[in-house]
Amino acid sequence: MTAERAKEKPLSEVVRERRATPHFDPSAPVHEGDLAKILSAGLHAPSGYNLQPWRFVVVRDPEQRKKLRAAAMNQPKVEEAPVVIVACGDKEGWKKGDLDDALEMAKEHGYGGDAEHAVVKKNVTGFLGSQPGSAGGIAPDLGVWVNRHVMIAFTTVMWMAEALGYDTAPMEGFDEASVKKLLHIPDSVRVVALLAIGHRKGEDKPYGGRFPIERLCFADDWGKPLKLPE
Ligand SMILES: Cc1cc2nc3c(=O)[nH]c(=O)nc-3n(C[C@H](O)[C@H](O)[C@H](O)COP(=O)(O)O)c2cc1C
Repeated sequence: MTAERAKEKPLSEVVRERRATPHFDPSAPVHEGDLAKILSAGLHAPSGYNLQPWRFVVVRDPEQRKKLRAAAMNQPKVEEAPVVIVACGDKEGWKKGDLDDALEMAKEHGYGGDAEHAVVKKNVTGFLGSQPGSAGGIAPDLGVWVNRHVMIAFTTVMWMAEALGYDTAPMEGFDEASVKKLLHIPDSVRVVALLAIGHRKGEDKPYGGRFPIERLCFADDWGKPLKLPE
């Protein structure tokens, strides 16, 4: 991207044209202002009870990216891309301040009062704090719970990076324990996915196609064909 930044691409164009980029040009930077915009977009993602359990480790240091590559199945793009976002989810953030702070923030924005917030606090604690097998407890798998949320924020980050003219590569090919060790990520935190951001080197890989609507979307009942205009 040059000094005169391109206009943001429309979402429909980004969705259609995004590819998982195989190789990045290490010398083509991601501008700090853009990075701020990209991350801020992710932080605007929705979450259950607005608990925002996502955490992002932004890896830019070349030495650190080299080590991260080793923890990510030696994928060259981890070392090539100037920015690699390690998207994580904290299974315990909600009981270590996030719930209280989210409610306080809501109050500052004029959303809800003490009585409503007391109910929310009881509900969240009952839901996320329930033990498997406990009476009335619905015992969510907190790994699934953070995954659900982190991938929304992750995807929002990806769309914003693409809208600003960058290329991206999402990755699940990494060893979680090695990534956690390298980045000193606490035990309560899961590493959900990696996102490389930069400018591609060479061609993107070709479009691999997508299954049609009829195969994946149903009308009112599982398996019932959904008919929509072409
Ligand atoms: C969550 C997720 C994890 C992925 N992990 C990897 C990965 O570790 N390595 C890789 O080369 N591609 C990875 N991909 C890229 C996919 O292979 C790619 O998105 C898919 O083939 C469709 O291609 P397209 O995104 O270019 O349309 C991943 C994609 C997603 C969404």
